[in-house]
Amino acid sequence: MERIEGAAELQRALALVRGEGRSVGLVPTMGALHAGHLSHVPALRARVDYVVMSIFVNPLQFGPGEDFQRYPRDRERDARLAESAGVDLLFCPTLKTMYPPGAETVVEVPGISADLEGASRPTHFRGVATVVTKLLALVRPDVASFGQKDLQQLLVVRRLVTDLHLGVDILPVPIVRAEDGLALSSRNVYLGPTDRKAATVLYRALEAGWDALWAGIRDPARVERAMAAVLRAEPRARMQYAVVRRAADLSRLAFLDGRLALLVAARVGPARLIDNLVVEVSEDGVRETTL
Ligand code: PAJ
Repeated sequence: MERIEGAAELQRALALVRGEGRSVGLVPTMGALHAGHLSHVPALRARVDYVVMSIFVNPLQFGPGEDFQRYPRDRERDARLAESAGVDLLFCPTLKTMYPPGAETVVEVPGISADLEGASRPTHFRGVATVVTKLLALVRPDVASFGQKDLQQLLVVRRLVTDLHLGVDILPVPIVRAEDGLALSSRNVYLGPTDRKAATVLYRALEAGWDALWAGIRDPARVERAMAAVLRAEPRARMQYAVVRRAADLSRLAFLDGRLALLVAARVGPARLIDNLVVEVSEDGVRETTL
């Protein structure tokens, strides 16, 4: 596995790869790698010849008072994990590479960014959209993977790629979970043993939403109340939202039908956690699906 920090060096390495006629995939990450991140590597490998992983803790997507300073960073561990997962090139740009002095261009995707995570974290998606655009411009991958775990982020990225004609395929990757249902997240390291147990409440809330749909409930308010009741019953959790939306664009529905996303966010002890479940509701019933 190659390890590169600079933009010019990256482009030299990728020119060689492309010169051999090989296609390139990118998985952008902020490091603190776990099995969820690593699952993107075989998913990309099935589509491309050469897999690039980037690791960059992007200051622009953290709000004031958020966890930028304490976000877990362990570059050597990450490099070992990336290499054993089969990454060909690990790109770890410096702050100066991503935001050189004088840089001022930002990318905004206002509609899809406005609600849910955007409402709780007003500058977050501007930071994500800006850094993802820069990474796509630097790597120029044929395919880039994004996790369904961050469903709204995935939709923001799809939108900007379409709107800016970036010509990269966006590959959605299913959520990898722990045995007890908790979605893997770099932020799970903030959880002590008691909060770690309590954090399963997010998945339990999604299951309650699923059960309500399974029971034939098609009124979104009733499904949302079922999820909220589970979150509120956990004293260590502070609910931020529990909603059911159209999966394609997160718009609201009056009657639940078609491809839907159940989405929850809560603070559990020191961590802010999110999770979701994408389901297809039809006359035949309810089934879990992907984007
Ligand atoms: P990060 O949180 O490190 O996540 C990197 C990628 O891994 C994202 O596409 C995310 O959705 C995916 N991912 C996270 N947890 C996952 C899980 N349990 N199963 C499958 N995939 C999972 O998301 C970011 O970084 C940043 O916002 C980034 C896109 C890199 C821009 O800075």
